[in-house]
Amino acid sequence: MNKPLIQALSLGKTYYVKSGLFRPRRKLEAVSGVDFAVDEGTTFGLVGESGSGKSTIARLVLGVERPTTGRVEMMGNEVPVLDDDPAPAFRRLIQPVMQDSTAALDPRMNVGRIIEEPLRIHDVHHNGVERSHRVTELLSQVGLDAAMAKRFSSALSGGQRQRVAIARALALNPRVLVLDEPVSSLDASTQAQILNLLKQLQSELALTCILISHDMAVIAFMSQQIGVLYMGRLVEVGLRDTILKDAQHPYTIALLASADHRAAIGFGTLQGEIPSPFDPPSGCAYHPRCPLAAQRCRVEAPLLRSTSSGRKVACHFAEVSRSDIAQLEHNQTITEDSHGLTQTDLD
Ligand SMILES: Nc1ncnc2c1ncn2[C@@H]1O[C@H](COP(=O)(O)OP(=O)(O)OP(=O)(O)O)[C@@H](O)[C@H]1O
Ligand SMILES: [Mg+2]
Repeated sequence: MNKPLIQALSLGKTYYVKSGLFRPRRKLEAVSGVDFAVDEGTTFGLVGESGSGKSTIARLVLGVERPTTGRVEMMGNEVPVLDDDPAPAFRRLIQPVMQDSTAALDPRMNVGRIIEEPLRIHDVHHNGVERSHRVTELLSQVGLDAAMAKRFSSALSGGQRQRVAIARALALNPRVLVLDEPVSSLDASTQAQILNLLKQLQSELALTCILISHDMAVIAFMSQQIGVLYMGRLVEVGLRDTILKDAQHPYTIALLASADHRAAIGFGTLQGEIPSPFDPPSGCAYHPRCPLAAQRCRVEAPLLRSTSSGRKVACHFAEVSRSDIAQLEHNQTITEDSHGLTQTDLD
């Protein structure tokens, strides 16, 4: 078996959020017990709705924030948090590409300077000629003309800006890219161009990617492995084809339906809103929105367990047939009814 290049081990992040001048801070578990492992040269796609904890995981993997529990390991070594990084060289190996590169790209710098900046900070190429060669090489890798180096980022299209952000991320020859919603701000045809570029770069440079998106179609196109995040926890993790052809968690199925992959399955698309993270539901956090929810789901949180098909899933009903579920529900209704009767009789 391959040893993973990068992995998250029981990763968790809890925030304590101010709730008013004289009120105690409220606890918010943004990420909890997240485990995944990514083999070299592959993409792990992390998908979930807004607020599910995707960017928090990105920040933990990048070492921008300190995890409350667990750790991130790369090639068997713990990835240090930026604040107390004893070996900045290590950080060069993991680079981010964010959703809105407008904020990341300084409008006062021209493109050449933006791409060159990491080389200066890390003192990689000592003279201007070497740096300028590297900038031209990077521009060509991301499909931009060398003349682009003189342009200012404020004068670029969204797609061009994202190409510049990718070139900058590649400047230091990273092994891992953490891509947080890299195409969400782009129109559909530009999205496709950038995703194809990322695929091409990945195979040319043997990059390992952690790709974050709320859009299952983007994740399905890019990833070898998919992790589905709900309220800070992974609810299903597995190989892309297993997840696409035979998703087991009702949340995964709903995400697939909303991306039109499974419109016909009959489970429907997502219903209702994500509950408040300050007051998560009892039992399975998905139960208030789940078409299969039964009494057990309201009281007992399902563990993320391995199933016979090799994926992991956190649902009491995973790999239970729908007719069995109907039978279970039926039995449960009878039990609840008879319990009610007994109660009434006693009263
Ligand atoms: N610095 C912080 N302090 C307090 N709470 C935070 C902080 N950062 C994130 N959160 C909370 O943690 C939860 C997860 O947020 P996160 O930004 O990771 O979600 P996301 O999946 O990236 O959402 P989106 O798709 O909207 O970007 C949210 O409830 C958010 O409000
Ligand atoms: Mg986010």
